[in-house]
Amino acid sequence: MKWDAQLYDSHHGFVAEYGKGLVNFVPAQARTVLDLGCGTGALTEKLANGIPGRHVLGVDSSAEMIEAARQEHPGLHFELADALNLDFDHEWDVVFSNAVFHWVPDHVKLLHSVHHALVGGGRGLLICEFGAHGNIATIEAALDEALLRETGVTRPRRFNFPTAATFSAELEECDFRVDDVREYDRPTPLSGGWDGLREWVLQFCESDFETLTSGQREAVVHSVEERVKADLWDERKGQWVADYRRLRALAAAV
Ligand SMILES: C[S@@+](CC[C@H](N)C(=O)[O-])C[C@H]1O[C@@H](n2cnc3c(N)ncnc32)[C@H](O)[C@@H]1O
Repeated sequence: MKWDAQLYDSHHGFVAEYGKGLVNFVPAQARTVLDLGCGTGALTEKLANGIPGRHVLGVDSSAEMIEAARQEHPGLHFELADALNLDFDHEWDVVFSNAVFHWVPDHVKLLHSVHHALVGGGRGLLICEFGAHGNIATIEAALDEALLRETGVTRPRRFNFPTAATFSAELEECDFRVDDVREYDRPTPLSGGWDGLREWVLQFCESDFETLTSGQREAVVHSVEERVKADLWDERKGQWVADYRRLRALAAAV
């Protein structure tokens, strides 16, 4: 499997703009594509769309997500599977994964599992994007401070946001050829107006709020809003813009 010529040339490397959707990096010739951490299958559908003969399978470790994906896309294939223990023997041309790896604490274990799922010999490709070092740093710093003040407990690190250098080294350790790994800022507007940050924090950082009373929850969310307002609230548009920073990696299993 080779990268498509309009995305990659041997003089300049990857020439695609980094705002371009991750799905566009999947070579048109890829016959088998595993969507790792597919959620409700929106990108699985894009991966399958318009490519006759391509076999696409979406897998996720959440039974609710797989159930929802099957309901929403009855013509596609979905299975329950943990990314850390994939049961495939060098059979996929592409492992694709969007917004998943930052949920996994052990990237070396994850990459061994992905490597074993991919066709070897430099032909099977990993195409992934997730939170990079510094992702949502403004929001997390405010949340750390508010939770410590409210509960007296230091908030545990919830996410694995590596630098490009760290992730490249992990790829090499797991026998990948690193074709491109980059970090980039992707400021992301949140929907819902002023309530958008509250809704995002309560969903994305759900486990931080599990043991709090409703009064404590309210105090923490209010404190986060006040602390990040100067940096992340766009008064003109009436929306929050989260300080997302992404890491995109393109690598081949050797
Ligand atoms: C933010 S969603 C991304 C969904 C989809 N890839 C997308 O971009 O729309 C993250 C997904 O990763 C899944 N996930 C987290 N850890 C996983 C693991 N160890 N194995 C498989 N899926 C996992 C979650 O269940 C969730 O559906």
